[in-house]
Amino acid sequence: MRILLASSESVPFAKTGGLADVCGTLPYALAELGHEVGIIIPAYRAIWCTAKPIRPLGLEFIVPVGSKTVSGQLLECPGDVPGVTYYFVRQDYYYDRDELYTVHGHDYADNCERFVFFCRAVMEAVRLLDFRPDILHANDWQTGLVPVYRRTLYAQAPEFQRTACVFTVHNMAFQGEFWHWDMLLTDLDWSYFNWQQMEFYGKLNFLKCGFVFSDAINTVSPRYAEEIQTPQFGCGLDGVLRSRRDVLRGILNGVDYGAWNPVTDPEIAQNYDADTVREGKPRCKAALQAELGLPVEPRSPLVGIVSRLTYQKGSDILVGVLPDWLARENAQWVILGKGEPDVERQLLELAQAFPHKLAVRLEHSEALARRIQAGADLFLMPSRFEPCGLTQLQALKYGTVPVVREIGGLADTITDYTPETLADGSANGFRFAGEDGASLSAVLRRACDLYGDTDTWYRLVRNGMSQDWSWRRTAPQYESMYRETLRRLYPDADPR
Ligand code: ADP
Ligand code: GLC
Repeated sequence: MRILLASSESVPFAKTGGLADVCGTLPYALAELGHEVGIIIPAYRAIWCTAKPIRPLGLEFIVPVGSKTVSGQLLECPGDVPGVTYYFVRQDYYYDRDELYTVHGHDYADNCERFVFFCRAVMEAVRLLDFRPDILHANDWQTGLVPVYRRTLYAQAPEFQRTACVFTVHNMAFQGEFWHWDMLLTDLDWSYFNWQQMEFYGKLNFLKCGFVFSDAINTVSPRYAEEIQTPQFGCGLDGVLRSRRDVLRGILNGVDYGAWNPVTDPEIAQNYDADTVREGKPRCKAALQAELGLPVEPRSPLVGIVSRLTYQKGSDILVGVLPDWLARENAQWVILGKGEPDVERQLLELAQAFPHKLAVRLEHSEALARRIQAGADLFLMPSRFEPCGLTQLQALKYGTVPVVREIGGLADTITDYTPETLADGSANGFRFAGEDGASLSAVLRRACDLYGDTDTWYRLVRNGMSQDWSWRRTAPQYESMYRETLRRLYPDADPR
């Protein structure tokens, strides 16, 4: 099949979260299955920071955006293997900026316009490249208008006559909601602005557009696919999703073990695998403690967090329990991430008060993220909701035991430790249910107690390390979704 993924982020070019990991690595897994995959993202300033050979294709287009006409150019960069190609939409006024979506913590005022243009550009790119995709695969709200354009302005275009549109939602909390006058930017007729299509409580809602106009929908774990059909997790769109449940499924994200692997990771103090973890991890831990200015204490459990510091990630719950833990327990903590100013401030204050127990780094650093994955003993994710989560899967590979709330993708990937689950090989971490600090403290205590029993602990560590959470497991499910959708739409077709 020929597949074009449209996304607002992709590693190695532009990343704010797991969306970039998924959109930059799934193409390789699909190429390995024999498909030809393109991935198209905006040409942000950040893309030029890689040493990759990005080149202009000499292809330009002009589209209306409201009362303006805006031009764009297409750029190309070969992927690391044949069959994968990156494309970029260059429009410097919209994308040549410091950050992807925000300035000083606030959304860019023209985000609607920037992504209306991007969706339109994806359609134009297909025409100019003569890509003729079997599958046009849009991701998250920023590409929510791609399925709309496919069914409206481009419905008759020859390039899309055998195309199916698939939409993946990575996070229901980000919907791309804009005031109704932004409808004028889309070049679409006002008749689409109704409650069954593009309108949601008086606003233009990109995510809803993606759900309504695509041929198949998925999210990034089976559990989250169920959860988002309920008011608790549906962020208002649960009804829309229930109405499309016949084409909705959950497919777990995979980790790229080529990039996330303690055997080859160049950033960590010592490489190790499941056989050598008992020697390798203590060295990585000591190096991390030294780097962070924490006392090098081999017997204190080191709890790692690499996360956006937001409500979704339960950072406020964490801040609630930390003072007690820092005052009473011998565990050490390292927290890497950026997020809500209040959480950041409280964490810095706690790090000042307990410099021997807590190290806080309010930054984005992939190198440090890797050293935390290698050096920590526990990896904590008290998320309120988690569509999939990649960091707990990275942690498993690095022999760091995840402690997670049992929701979404965390529930689908982490099996709570009991002597029975350890014996049958399924145990790989610790789970808790409540949203309160007491539940979080209780599970942490349980984990720290087991940490004291080194032999059992390393059995748990090895269980996790030996499990396969790569795309090998789940990319075939994307392949099936694509094929089934094509067969449904074009019964005479033979999608290979
Ligand atoms: P989300 O996309 O909701 O933020 P995921 O767990 O799916 O959560 O993905 C987060 C990705 O971003 C992971 O690859 C993780 O390693 C990375 N990451 C998160 N915070 C940081 C940070 N402060 N520095 C470096 N990498 C980070
Ligand atoms: C979102 C979710 C995260 C998921 C990622 C990639 O950012 O918050 O759980 O892993 O997308 O799908």
